[in-house]
Amino acid sequence: MSMSTVASAPGKAILCGEHAVVYGAPAIALPLSGIRAYAKIRKCDHPLTIIAEDLPRPPLVYRAGEMDMSDPLALTAELAIDYLGAGSISGEIRLKSDIPIASGLGSGAAISTALCRAIALLRASEIPAGDLSKLVYEVEKLHHGSPSGIDNTVVVCEAPVFFIKDQRMELINIAEPLQLVLADTGIAALTRDAVAAVRRRRQSAPAATAAIFAEIGAISKEAKDCLEQGATKRLGALMIANHRLLQALDVSSPELDRLVEAGLHGGAYGAKLSGGGRGGNIIALADAHSVDAVREKLLEAGAKRVMVTIAGEGRRDDDDSD
Ligand code: PMV
Repeated sequence: MSMSTVASAPGKAILCGEHAVVYGAPAIALPLSGIRAYAKIRKCDHPLTIIAEDLPRPPLVYRAGEMDMSDPLALTAELAIDYLGAGSISGEIRLKSDIPIASGLGSGAAISTALCRAIALLRASEIPAGDLSKLVYEVEKLHHGSPSGIDNTVVVCEAPVFFIKDQRMELINIAEPLQLVLADTGIAALTRDAVAAVRRRRQSAPAATAAIFAEIGAISKEAKDCLEQGATKRLGALMIANHRLLQALDVSSPELDRLVEAGLHGGAYGAKLSGGGRGGNIIALADAHSVDAVREKLLEAGAKRVMVTIAGEGRRDDDDSD
């Protein structure tokens, strides 16, 4: 068997519970195994060089102790190399990603995960999932400030998760894979800004905000049952209710609302913003019959990019190539 030279990690979508999860409510995240970040390794004698093919930045040459720790790629490399106990490391890693940046689909966590896996590959080693998730969480802090940990968890374990902050995560056995349609507003929004706005809201209206978090938490619990039982119609209704609560938290936007309504108009069971909000993507839950109409309505409503994907299928193996 040839040695794998490409590590990868999936994108993710939050099915329900975002924002409330930061304050201890449960949330559900799904891996998007068809939309991935890749890190291709090439063994050579040069000091470790990381090339991000999609980003307008020069190659990053790793030099121990001299890295800019506010750069996510440099921090990821430092953390992985430190974990592996590898003082010096040589080789080249090329990063490429299908996951749109800053749109709530887990691009940052997927790139960090793929990069850590590739660095381990260069050392003919592997980082166990629990430890890898902790390393990626450290990088997520750069992107988000105080993330709940849901992104690194779902991206590393690549399985549907029922997540409660600081608790052992639970994997969900999905009865039937979900046909999701993702539609991008084209507006890049920083999760840390949306999280900060919710924090301010919680300070100024604690009781009302706590009540919203509690309702969102109840939705996540019921959504878990729906996933396990294949109750797609009810799941759709819960997504719509979750979107209304996110509107009440003021993390939606006219563009997101327009796409949610368009998805429903196209026949989706449910639709909601996914992730931090204020921009980024909505997810719509469709089926084989409605998927084309949903996609069409979303494009008509101004979606900048529409992706159809299946969530909840088994993990896709990393490429095993040249
Ligand atoms: O990374 P995003 O944009 O998918 O958002 C993560 C979800 C939040 O609940 C808004 C933040 C968090 O840390 O859980």
